[in-house]
Amino acid sequence: MTNKEKLLNRAKEVLVGGVNSPIRALTKPEQLIAVKGQGPYIYDESLGKLVDYVLGYGPLILGHAHPDVKKAIIEALENGWLYGATSPLDIRLAEKILTHVYPGGKIRFVNSGTEATMLALRLARAYTGRNLIVKFDGCYHGAHDYLLVSAGSAAGHLGVPKSPGIPSEVSRLTLIAEYNDPGGLEEIFSKYGDHIAGVIVEPVIGNYGVIPPSKEFLLKLRKLTETYGAVLIFDEVITGFRLSLGGAQEYFGIRADLVTLGKIIGGGLPIGAVAGRREIMDLITPVGKVFNAGTFNGHPLAMAAGLATIRVLEKEGLGRAVNHARALDDIIRETLDLAGIAYAVNRIGPMMQFYLGVENVEKPSDILPQSKDLYTRIHEEMTRHGVLIAPSQLEALFTSIVHGDNEAELFHQAYNNAVRRVLKG
Ligand SMILES: Cc1ncc(COP(=O)(O)O)c(C=O)c1O
Repeated sequence: MTNKEKLLNRAKEVLVGGVNSPIRALTKPEQLIAVKGQGPYIYDESLGKLVDYVLGYGPLILGHAHPDVKKAIIEALENGWLYGATSPLDIRLAEKILTHVYPGGKIRFVNSGTEATMLALRLARAYTGRNLIVKFDGCYHGAHDYLLVSAGSAAGHLGVPKSPGIPSEVSRLTLIAEYNDPGGLEEIFSKYGDHIAGVIVEPVIGNYGVIPPSKEFLLKLRKLTETYGAVLIFDEVITGFRLSLGGAQEYFGIRADLVTLGKIIGGGLPIGAVAGRREIMDLITPVGKVFNAGTFNGHPLAMAAGLATIRVLEKEGLGRAVNHARALDDIIRETLDLAGIAYAVNRIGPMMQFYLGVENVEKPSDILPQSKDLYTRIHEEMTRHGVLIAPSQLEALFTSIVHGDNEAELFHQAYNNAVRRVLKG
């Protein structure tokens, strides 16, 4: 038995499914046992070095083990790593993020994107005195009860729980709308508008592959929430500091009332945050009565890693990550044109996904089931050839500022080979 097999057996014995998050069990040809990350590469116990386009599911925009981030973590570590008190690091990171994301606003740091969206909903409800939340089919906002909801019999209906253990009473407080459908949203508001506390949206869906919004959809979202006095929450856990330093708000020129953040702002350490309008943020304890607390909120190492990450992005920009994604986009199109199959490549900045058998994916229901199967097999072949793309089509491919020409060439070879085998074999 190989060392990897031994580790997998031990993992399955003690960790549920051998993992701590379900997507990690999906990987074929075999589950990864990651032993190291360096630059654009992740190393698996048996597969060895793989070009990494998963990047920890988004946070590692600077690649693995970036020297500036590493240095900042070590420096912070020298001073102890938990205070239970505000430190200069919290202040600096808060100032830095607000400058880019919400000038004049305030921020509260928590420990995950899940916690951030939970707090944002609580704030929206407290601010408006209403209970209903609107979310969009195909958007993911973390693993808590209010937002693990899927569409009922049709979009616009009250949600049904997506997991056993979530009371239907809770899910019924969440209305499901269709993404990129301004008319549908208008109908929901005309029916329930006076009871809607807030609308939460991934301004670019990053959890159904990648689905960009139409400008008309985002504008309608802003207008309806304003008209009905509901709180507009942009969930920028993925898009924050990825689409631009000001995230999707800056990219599309639309201001939300609250923004949830995570991933990149912690430089690869656990983090989440809610930022936004002062009058809403000041409802949080201790200024207001909306309860939020956390032993690890504003953890010094996460603050230091996030600060170092944003400083590198300020200095070096996102250009290399975007150019690399553009190169992959070209390779994918060229390969699929040659293969003679219909496809859509959805790319926005340094995040992307491809779909097979269709020419347009503007909403989750546009994706064909066979596209997901073919994708999984392409993923499997590519992994065997040393290139790791997201293990499911419903995740995004992310690039970093340290992916370069070598990695594009490796991607080209692996993609070509995989498509040939899967589509023609
Ligand atoms: C858009 C979005 N919101 C929230 C979350 C939850 O974040 P976390 O996994 O840090 O709890 C995720 C996680 O992938 C996400 O993609």
